[in-house]
Amino acid sequence: MVQVAVLGYGTVGSGVVEVIDKNKEIVSGNVGQELDVKYILDLRDFPDDPYGDKVIHDIDTILNDNEVSIVCEVMGGVGAAYQFTKAALQKGKSVCTSNKELVAKHGPELLQLAKENNCSYLFEASVGGGIPIIRPLNDCLTAERIENITGILNGTTNYILTKMEREGADFATVLKEAQEKGYAERNPEADVEGHDACRKIAILSSLMTGKTVDSEKIYTEGITKVTADDFVYAKATGRTIKLLAKSDAIGEGEVLAMVAPFMVDKDHPLAMVNDVFNAVFVRGNMLGDSMYYGRGAGKLPTASAVVGDVVECARNLGKNIPCRWSTEDAILADAADIEDAYYVRIKADRKAEAQKVFGDSRFVEIADRDKDFAVLTNPMKEKEFAAKCELLGDAVISRIRLY
Ligand code: HSE
Repeated sequence: MVQVAVLGYGTVGSGVVEVIDKNKEIVSGNVGQELDVKYILDLRDFPDDPYGDKVIHDIDTILNDNEVSIVCEVMGGVGAAYQFTKAALQKGKSVCTSNKELVAKHGPELLQLAKENNCSYLFEASVGGGIPIIRPLNDCLTAERIENITGILNGTTNYILTKMEREGADFATVLKEAQEKGYAERNPEADVEGHDACRKIAILSSLMTGKTVDSEKIYTEGITKVTADDFVYAKATGRTIKLLAKSDAIGEGEVLAMVAPFMVDKDHPLAMVNDVFNAVFVRGNMLGDSMYYGRGAGKLPTASAVVGDVVECARNLGKNIPCRWSTEDAILADAADIEDAYYVRIKADRKAEAQKVFGDSRFVEIADRDKDFAVLTNPMKEKEFAAKCELLGDAVISRIRLY
């Protein structure tokens, strides 16, 4: 029998217990022996909960119980979660987590600790919720040189952008409605400013290069400046707007990564990823393109990914499941050197100036609109584009990269 402890009985933690209980036969069958939850660690008591008798408050009970071989860290944060994860790995207990913040911050160190103690640190649920993406990168695409990863990695912002597109509504209105329905957090900053997607692309970029990509160094722009007017031009030019997190391998251990809204051609598979769904597009030098799609958040999809990792650990007890992610820093290219094409929305009465600055670009005018027009530029370096926009000053209303 394989015994598991769950750290944190919140949304994902209760999901993990539910998945193991409801799919007990399948999970145990996949392990090859019975798998059960022995402890649930939380500060609170849950007297009316069917698993309330498993709730304990002292981590040492878990650490000192040799019957527990796998720990699910689903508490979140980088304080107690970090300490408990280290302590569990030092005891030779494998740890499975959904905690992207901790993985982005201390991933390689925890992987090394797992290796030293013949156990594993798995984090499938930390990126893309229930979508298998970490294991495909770590186990399936191992014959590939991964050249690019581009993802829609945040469900909240994808939901907001999808609604803005369908309803012609502005950002603030859709955000408020999403908050009222509980789809967006009361403090939505991490999602709408792109920080959540940034942590996730940092993890994927690290797996792509095998080195550590520091999330704090990734150029990150959120969706708060995207307007209903921008969607009008996106539609007129056969595009939609998505928050993309993307990373290109441009040299040995060097990446070009960013999170920003992009106008995406309607025919691109990522343009078809709507509502709260996530997708990750991966290009390998032998395979070419592949895409992974599904629910990037939510109790049961995320818990299912954690339990999938538990099964993998249970199949490999006493062994380390290797992961190519070292503590050595990857080199991040300067955002100013990134080459992109842009959509720029400009005040209608400044067309002559715009023609001088963006003369070789495609100008888009929509009948019955007298306040603005748009320009779709050729690819150019960000610093070159910024200089052009500076020449136009307050004539520029908005700008979004083209994908
Ligand atoms: N807030 C995240 C999202 C949850 O909206 O995708 C999953 O990390």
